[in-house]
Amino acid sequence: MTGEEFEPKILGFFCNWCSYAGADLAGVSRLKYPANLRIVRVMCSGRVEPTMVLKAFACGADGVLVAGCHPGDCHYQQGNYKTLRRVPLLERTLAQFGIHPARFRLAWISANEGQKLVQVVTEMVDEIKKLGPFPGTRSRFPELGAAAPGPAERPAAAPVPGERGAAAPAATVAAGGEAHD
Ligand code: FES
Repeated sequence: MTGEEFEPKILGFFCNWCSYAGADLAGVSRLKYPANLRIVRVMCSGRVEPTMVLKAFACGADGVLVAGCHPGDCHYQQGNYKTLRRVPLLERTLAQFGIHPARFRLAWISANEGQKLVQVVTEMVDEIKKLGPFPGTRSRFPELGAAAPGPAERPAAAPVPGERGAAAPAATVAAGGEAHD
């Protein structure tokens, strides 16, 4: 134990038109919120597919926040209604994977709600700190196409053709093909 406090990694999928602008406003207004949030800007919250949330957890996020325009304000009219319909299903899926409900949140944050962003992120960080790090790893979700294992994880008997250190296919060398190293 190093004694360092656990700092959760929260991945935020923010819609470009409202929530990302709200985060921008929080920044220019010099509002302070925990630095645990990493934002992925999407054009609409309706663009966020459930697999994107699962993959975020699979890749090491301790929490995922999806933020979009308030219902009725979506710039694509129906996008956030799609989000709203998907979320109950997604929450059930997360529960089946053993993911605590506090690790996922959907929030409506408009462009002038920088303060709300601060509140939502602060609450999420506090709740996830109590839960501790997400115990899952990429190996829990192999079907989601987790990143290829690094060289150290690969069995020695199965080199990947074309990778540094792997024997180039004889036919490629004989034909003077491009060496991909
Ligand atoms: S454009 Fe913001 S939720 Fe659709």
